[in-house]
Amino acid sequence: MIDVITCALAVIFFIFLGYRPPWYNKKLQEFQTKEIQNIPGPLALPILGTRWLFSIGRYKMNKIHEYYIEMREKYGGIFKEEALFNIPVISVFDKNDIEKVLRNTSGKYPIRPPTEAIAKFRSEHPERYASTGLTNEQGEKWHFLRTSLTTVLTSPKTIQDFLPQMKDIADDWCHLIKQKRDEDGFINNLEELAGRLGLEATCALVLGQRMGFLIEDQNHEVAEKLAKSVQQNFVACRDTYYGLPLWKLFPTTCYKKLCESENDMYEFASELINTADESIKNSVVFQSVLNANIDEREKKSAIVDFLAAGIHTLKNSLLFLLYQVAMNPECQQKIIKDSTKSYLKACSMETFRLSPTVNFLARITDADMEVAGYHLNAGSVILCHTALACKNDSNFKEAEKFKPERWLNEEKSQTSASAAFLVTPFGYGKRICPGKRFIEQVLPVILDKMVENFVISVEKPMEIEFEFLVSPKGNVSMNFTDRV
Ligand code: HEM
Repeated sequence: MIDVITCALAVIFFIFLGYRPPWYNKKLQEFQTKEIQNIPGPLALPILGTRWLFSIGRYKMNKIHEYYIEMREKYGGIFKEEALFNIPVISVFDKNDIEKVLRNTSGKYPIRPPTEAIAKFRSEHPERYASTGLTNEQGEKWHFLRTSLTTVLTSPKTIQDFLPQMKDIADDWCHLIKQKRDEDGFINNLEELAGRLGLEATCALVLGQRMGFLIEDQNHEVAEKLAKSVQQNFVACRDTYYGLPLWKLFPTTCYKKLCESENDMYEFASELINTADESIKNSVVFQSVLNANIDEREKKSAIVDFLAAGIHTLKNSLLFLLYQVAMNPECQQKIIKDSTKSYLKACSMETFRLSPTVNFLARITDADMEVAGYHLNAGSVILCHTALACKNDSNFKEAEKFKPERWLNEEKSQTSASAAFLVTPFGYGKRICPGKRFIEQVLPVILDKMVENFVISVEKPMEIEFEFLVSPKGNVSMNFTDRV
């Protein structure tokens, strides 16, 4: 009896001291939700977090899309990075987790982490900016800007009425390709022409005016400068975000580049607005911004932001689309044979699935939630890696293959079910891109005209780099032979 009591007392004593047998911990963990600090991830330094990986570590900023593939292989469906002051940034890769995060962050005012360096620059220039802009604002302020500035831009009627003009723009681009290709049919810097198309189409929509960027021998200095400053802006956003955050202490080279590009974008876009003639009054988008009941400064900066938002994203998406159909010549035949034009749209959707220019969606949670067995507090930053999930065979059959057919006929419903939270090139929910409808119309129209005019082919694989957007690396070369 005394032995039993002694044993019981010993057990109580050790439990009191905190000892637990290994099987106890294992069993408990299966039932208990783990905390954010238990999420695996690369070594985080005090204060600096994991940002050292891209400055003194072995990872390159222009290959960040490859870094995320490596992290998924190493850590599985969820991993943790740490920003300045060790603020956790959680990445999720699994379909169910992505769906859960996007659904749970779809309240009245969804929060997308702002681009901090831009927010800093804009708040230091109150003479130009009344706020940090639609893309960076949150809460009621964001909602007010969103409803005041984008209702007309996102309306189906606006986009439908723009269709005839878009067809003219696509014709002009084909004409420019004919003039610019070499005697063997090659264009070796297609990105430059795609940038001009992006700007011409966006200006036509936003300013209601053809600017002439697709006319071969016209001076395109402003267009080129604006395109360059937009690209510089994206790269500087990447470098301030992923590099050591020293720019918060003093103006580093990348922060200076960001300021320079913000200034240039504002100046060059203003020049375009100023040179636009009376016909600008015909632009429903421009008029809707001008008539909005908001601070005058917001109007100008919104137009500048719309122009900047359209150039680089449209350029990249168009280059990816042309590349996919060039690599798959049988698709060009199918486009020609399909009088319903559904195949064109399917090619565009399939390109967005395989090569979206925005490879993950970022959200901040506004309530506690559980993801992949971990408890995340309200205010957690989460990156939903939609692009990588799209290439997973468990989400799409033969996921790495370009198969527009998956968006048509009997395969369509199965694809759409998986696609709802994964094929989200324009984002999700209330913060979805207001340019979505416009771009979804533009791309099939251009592809249609291109395939009607040319047999499109490529000889070398397209290289990709990360510029905050996933972008084709310079000197994109494609062949355009007349279709007879
Ligand atoms: C291929 C072209 C484009 C792509 C792939 C694209 C993609 C995106 C994505 C992924 C977002 C974030 C959405 C989210 O967090 O849920 C976004 C936001 C935004 N986009 Fe686009 N975009 C494109 C073109 C455009 C155009 C043409 C405009 C303007 C005319 C535009 C204006 C904006 C604005 C203002 C936001 C911020 C919206 C907000 O926070 O409420 N984009 N875009």
